[in-house]
Amino acid sequence: MAPKHKTNKTASAVPRHIAVVMDGNGRWATKRLLPRGAGHKFGVDALKRLVRGCIAQHVPVLTVFAFSSENWSRPADEVRGLLELFVQVLQRETAELAAQGVRLRFVGCRDAFDARLIALIESAEADSAAQCRLQLNVALNYGGRWDIVQAAQALAASGEPFTEQALARHMCLADLPPPDLLIRTGGERRLSNFLLWQIAYTELYFSDLLWPEFDEKALAAAIAAFARRERRFGGVPQAPSSADGLRVA
Ligand code: FPP
Repeated sequence: MAPKHKTNKTASAVPRHIAVVMDGNGRWATKRLLPRGAGHKFGVDALKRLVRGCIAQHVPVLTVFAFSSENWSRPADEVRGLLELFVQVLQRETAELAAQGVRLRFVGCRDAFDARLIALIESAEADSAAQCRLQLNVALNYGGRWDIVQAAQALAASGEPFTEQALARHMCLADLPPPDLLIRTGGERRLSNFLLWQIAYTELYFSDLLWPEFDEKALAAAIAAFARRERRFGGVPQAPSSADGLRVA
């Protein structure tokens, strides 16, 4: 059977989809004797730089982890501050993002959000629907386990036979290529329940920078590291070809 994926030698060196765990806002603020919420505000600036960087590098899809299903366990004032920040950012930035050609989509469970945030999410998605330079997916109240369960429930309700392909069709972001590259800042080396299904063959890249420090140069370094990876998707290393200057039997 033909392979489903190409190895990196023939695939593009630019990821078609980058996923990002934007970690380190709190530590960045604490180091400067600022409240943790200030770190999240500066984190928005880093996200804006990331969007510009992805557009400049012709990355077509970007998915960022803005609030996990587990983030509700943070102190109530931090959770309130984050939800208020999402409202402010959506009010302030949606038109500018659309002007840059950014199409917005939100993934995650919306049940816990108030009507104001849900209305802003829906209008940001509707108002940017015609844009196609960069698809920006924001994971809000999202968890990889939640995603698998909601997909399983949708599949069960559909009555389709339970297969891997059928379940995949019900996962969030099923219409997009899976992430080629996952970047996590903040020095931790874990996935924290992000896109567990979608990242089965994603290349992982960990940066010690705290999220507010992440800039276009750091993005370029991550993409350059990705370009050096050999992707096998469970296969074997590619044999050297005559184009590599080696004799091939
Ligand atoms: C993790 O750092 C960061 C978050 C939980 C929030 C990320 C949110 C933003 C950058 C704002 C984005 C806004 C929109 C509308 C998408 P942390 O607080 O866990 O940092 P720490 O590990 O240093 O404590």
